[in-house]
Amino acid sequence: MKALEGVKVLDFTHVQSGPTCTQLLAWFGADVIKVERPGVGDATRKQLIDKPGADSLYFTMLNHNKRSIELNSKSAEGKEVLTRLIETCDVLVENFAPGALDRMGFGWERIQEINPRIIMASVKGFGPGKYEDCKVYENIAQCAGGSASTTGWRDDRPLVTGAQIGDSGTGLHLALGIVTALYQRTHSGRGQRVLAPMQDGVLNLCRVKLRDQQRLEVGPLEEYSQYGEGIPFGDSVPRAGNDSGGGQPGRILKCKGWETDPNAYTYFITQAAAWEKVCDVIGKPEWKDDLDYATPKARLPRLNHIFATIEEWTMTKDKFEVMAICNPLDIPVGPILSMKEIAEDEDLRKTGTVVEVDHPERGKYLSVGCPIKLSDSPVEVERSPLLGEHTVEVLRDVLGYDGEGLARILDSGAVGAAKLAAE
Ligand code: COA
Repeated sequence: MKALEGVKVLDFTHVQSGPTCTQLLAWFGADVIKVERPGVGDATRKQLIDKPGADSLYFTMLNHNKRSIELNSKSAEGKEVLTRLIETCDVLVENFAPGALDRMGFGWERIQEINPRIIMASVKGFGPGKYEDCKVYENIAQCAGGSASTTGWRDDRPLVTGAQIGDSGTGLHLALGIVTALYQRTHSGRGQRVLAPMQDGVLNLCRVKLRDQQRLEVGPLEEYSQYGEGIPFGDSVPRAGNDSGGGQPGRILKCKGWETDPNAYTYFITQAAAWEKVCDVIGKPEWKDDLDYATPKARLPRLNHIFATIEEWTMTKDKFEVMAICNPLDIPVGPILSMKEIAEDEDLRKTGTVVEVDHPERGKYLSVGCPIKLSDSPVEVERSPLLGEHTVEVLRDVLGYDGEGLARILDSGAVGAAKLAAE
């Protein structure tokens, strides 16, 4: 048994945020039925193509363990099938532009009428308010959720991060909302609406910056580099480069080979508890008793000098040597790993966080497996479905269409002609 075995999910998602969520549900054992436009499918199938004729990595890496049904949900027969899917499923997940489901004739009121037990889960760019009608992609969410204004260098423009906190991050939030609603349904017997706006999801991940905004009202942020540099703070949280966002100062420091290797760096944290060991490792034992360095408070205005001194030491080692020396001493450090290094990491492969998947159109490729490990519900990553691969199977086995009923739906054109020819 998988954790979510028996849960049926009508997956009306596309691009990244929604598919991230439904992929997680599928990995935990839910039967995820992805509804896609006949002949077109999720737009990402044909975006950033690396192998002509094959579904893109963008699509395959976000849609494992799902079934695909091609269905024109705007045609009469398509609406009929969609209604039966809503009757049958426990969860409907969607991330269409605001209003798209209503225009299709399947607003929340109607969905509840069809199935009062269903959980309807949506990603939208913004929650209720002045921007609720806007279409939103990843970087817009990063900007509107407070990430961009607090990322990057103080004297340069705001910066977006490569981590897809707006899309994949919101998909994670939505998945939590769905399983929570499923749990509540075990008591209430009712479904409910789950909304995860991307702006809110990003802000949740930027919580420490809203913390700092309020701290700023009572004085300078002493752990930020600019404090040590004597640069006054404005009225909002500034960008802080690679400064640690927590109470333990940290920076990215150069390691041996940095002149030619763009990732020859380490993150180095001068955790208070490990300070004396840091002094010994970098050859500054005299700092242990020097009142200018001995306490965290005394160190705050001197962080730039302290990290420059530590960097003189890290530059004599490669990033893995720094790790090997510091870890046994409980000094928190971490190498800056390139995607190439991550792709080749044996431990990540062993735990299934990096997996090799075989696909009939594209052959073997690497993907990120499930990053959450349940001891009683192990994940086996299965390839993403071809467009409409399970159309007939879902109509017949999940919805009970057979004989003339099945022929009527298939003949109506509501379910993808190309696939039908092959059936
Ligand atoms: N059959 C018939 N029509 C279908 C269909 C199907 N199976 N699946 C989708 N459609 C239609 C929709 O009903 C909609 O039609 P309408 O505009 O006439 O109402 C149309 O396809 C396009 O949907 P839309 O969501 O507007 O796609 P888009 O490509 O224009 O916009 C986004 C993409 C991501 C910007 C938008 O969906 C969005 O803002 N989503 C919410 C936020 C979000 O998740 N963003 C991150 C994505 S990673």
